[in-house]
Amino acid sequence: MKILVTGGLGYIGSHVTTLLLQNGMEVVVVDNLENTRIDVLDGIESITGKRPNFKQIDVCDSNQLKALFDEFSDIGGIIHFAAHKSVSESVNEPLKYYDNNLGGLQQLLKHALAKAVPFIFSSSCTVYGQSDTLPISENEPLKQATSPYGSTKKIGEQIIEDCCRANPDFNAILLRYFNPVGAHPSAKIGELPKGIPQNLVPYLTQTVKGIRPVLKVFGSSYNTPDGTCIRDYIHVMDLADAHIASLDYLLKNKNTSSCEVYNVGTGRGVSVLELIQTFEEATGEKVPYEFADPRPGDTVSAYADASKIEKIIGWKAKYSLEESLSSSWNWEKNLNS
Ligand code: UD1
Repeated sequence: MKILVTGGLGYIGSHVTTLLLQNGMEVVVVDNLENTRIDVLDGIESITGKRPNFKQIDVCDSNQLKALFDEFSDIGGIIHFAAHKSVSESVNEPLKYYDNNLGGLQQLLKHALAKAVPFIFSSSCTVYGQSDTLPISENEPLKQATSPYGSTKKIGEQIIEDCCRANPDFNAILLRYFNPVGAHPSAKIGELPKGIPQNLVPYLTQTVKGIRPVLKVFGSSYNTPDGTCIRDYIHVMDLADAHIASLDYLLKNKNTSSCEVYNVGTGRGVSVLELIQTFEEATGEKVPYEFADPRPGDTVSAYADASKIEKIIGWKAKYSLEESLSSSWNWEKNLNS
C-alpha cells in the first residue's frame, strides 16, 4: 500500500513525507513545483536514505490525476497539502484561490471516494477568525473568513464533510494547524518562502541573516499583556507527527464513515515580543526590530485547545519554542540565497 502526499515537496509536506518514509511507508509525492524546488527530494533522500516516487503534476489536472491513480493502483491513504497559501495574494486574486484550492480538492476526492481511500486535509486555525473564547476548541463556532484563502479552507472542510455524509465507507480527518514554524533538525529541509516572507518567523530569520533590514512588529497596543499579538507556534516536526498519528488512526478505523476535525497546536499562546526574545536566547543572535502599524485583518490572540487530538488520536506536541526557533535559524543559515 502507498500513501499519496500532494504538495509533498512543500514546507509541511516534505516533513510529513520524511516521517512517512522513516516509518516504513511507501510514498507517492505529487507537486507542481510552483512554490518549492525539486532539490527538496534530495534533502528527503539524504535524511531517510530513500527517494519517494515523485510525479510533477498539478492536482487540478484531471487527466494527469487519473493517470497517477492508474499507475499507482494501491494508494491506500491520501494526505492533501497542495494549495496556494498567501493571504494577501488571495485577496487580490480570489479566483486563482477558489479554482486551485477547491478545484484540486474536488478532483482528488473523486478518486478517494471511488476506492474509499482515507483522506487527511490540511486546514487552518484561520477558520476560527478572532475567537470569542481562548484557548480555541474545535467546538468554537466558525467566523466569516477574512480572506479568500481562509474561505477555501472553510469550504474545503465543508466539501469533505458532505462527502463523508454521502459515502458510508469514506473516512477523513481535517487538521486545523495553528502557526507552523521550525525545520527538520538536520537542516536539510525547511520552509522556502517565495519572495518577501509574510509570516513572522521566516521574515525574522531573513532579517537576522541580513537579507531584510529590520523586522516590523505589527501593532504594539493590542489588548494583550505586552501589546503584541498572540499565536500558537508549533514545530513543523510535531505537526508532521500529527499527520502520521492521524493516518494511523484512519487506517485502523477504515470504512467507518467519520469526518473528524482536530486542532494541531501546542496550547501555548506566545506574543510577538516573547517570540523575538526566545529567539535571541535560543540562538544568541540579536533581532533588529521596530514597531509598526497593526496589519489589517490580524487576529489579536489565537491559541489551541489541543486536548481532543491528544485524547482520541494520542498525539501531543513535544518540541519547545526554543527548539523550534533554533531549528528555523539553523535552516536559514544553511540556505544559499
Ligand atoms: C497567517 C495568515 C493565516 C495563515 C497563516 C499560515 C494573515 C492575516 N493570516 O497567520 O491566514 O493561515 O499565516 O501560517 O496573514 N508579524 C509581525 N511582523 C511580520 C510578520 C508577522 O509582527 O513581519 C506578526 C503578526 O502580526 C502576527 C504574528 O506575527 O501577530 C504571526 O504572523 P504570521 O506568521 O503572518 O501568522 P498569522 O497572522 O497567524
